[in-house]
Amino acid sequence: MKITIVGAGNVGGTCASFIAAKNIVTKILLLDISKEKAMGKALDIWNSSQLLTNNTKVIGLGNKEYIKTKNSKICIITSGFIRNTGMTRDQLITKNAVIIKEVTNKLLKYSKNALFIIVSNPLDIMTYVAFKELNISRFKIFGMSGLLDTARYNSYLATALKCNPKDIQSMLIGEHGDTMIPLLRYTTVSGIPIGELLSKSNINFIIQKTKKTGGEILNMLKTSAWYTPGIAIANMVEAIIKNSKNIITCSCYLTGEYGLNNVFLGVPVILGKNGIEKILELQLNKEERKNLKTSSLKIKKMISQLLEE
Ligand code: 2OP
Repeated sequence: MKITIVGAGNVGGTCASFIAAKNIVTKILLLDISKEKAMGKALDIWNSSQLLTNNTKVIGLGNKEYIKTKNSKICIITSGFIRNTGMTRDQLITKNAVIIKEVTNKLLKYSKNALFIIVSNPLDIMTYVAFKELNISRFKIFGMSGLLDTARYNSYLATALKCNPKDIQSMLIGEHGDTMIPLLRYTTVSGIPIGELLSKSNINFIIQKTKKTGGEILNMLKTSAWYTPGIAIANMVEAIIKNSKNIITCSCYLTGEYGLNNVFLGVPVILGKNGIEKILELQLNKEERKNLKTSSLKIKKMISQLLEE
């Protein structure tokens, strides 16, 4: 079983190494506009195989070698610009939309049955762009958002509680951005509702910090985060390859679920060998529904601005 990762930057390279370490696929193709960069990272990852006890071949490719990605089970798109080059958000959207369309089309040409995981930002919009371009089943194309945001949220809860992050269960839905919605009703620590362990103001502080983490890291590193995005992608790939049917929040195309249509938003799904096996529709209360609608309107507005250009 082989998979392809497009973009050998920090996120692409790190997710390749996490996936290789899991020893769940035979081959990872790491493709980049810079063939040298893709080859260098691929070589370094393959060199680590004995120490990590895996046998996943990692091969670097340039962007004239899409044919070598033929019959990939999963294609992961990490390529695109990030917003620290003096670009406005709108310019970023326009430029990345062009890249996403080109890359996904080339991949689909050689891997008609592939599942697509979109990672490029702005996530929910780029996943929408790819979906409309490819015209494939909505269950085969989704964005990596929820695992990353939930992991951040859980890490802050664990810090505040001085407990093991492993004991925390939480659920975040909506945009991969400022309007993301942590659902407190579904946040527990070893079964204990979070409201019994932390004050409202503590929880609110953590929610705000979670929303800002992407930007905070971008400011500190002058590039976007990669370790947590990398492992989040790897865990999604593992759920698909092992058909483990984990419930994971992914950005997916809604056609009436949650009363929303024609938009990609983070909602919980069952992930398995066919991609999204099922979209779970939670019984949201009035406020949660309102917040999800706000998320949806924000994304739709950005999409319509993009389409108007
Ligand atoms: C992040 O949240 C930029 O989506 C990336 O770190």
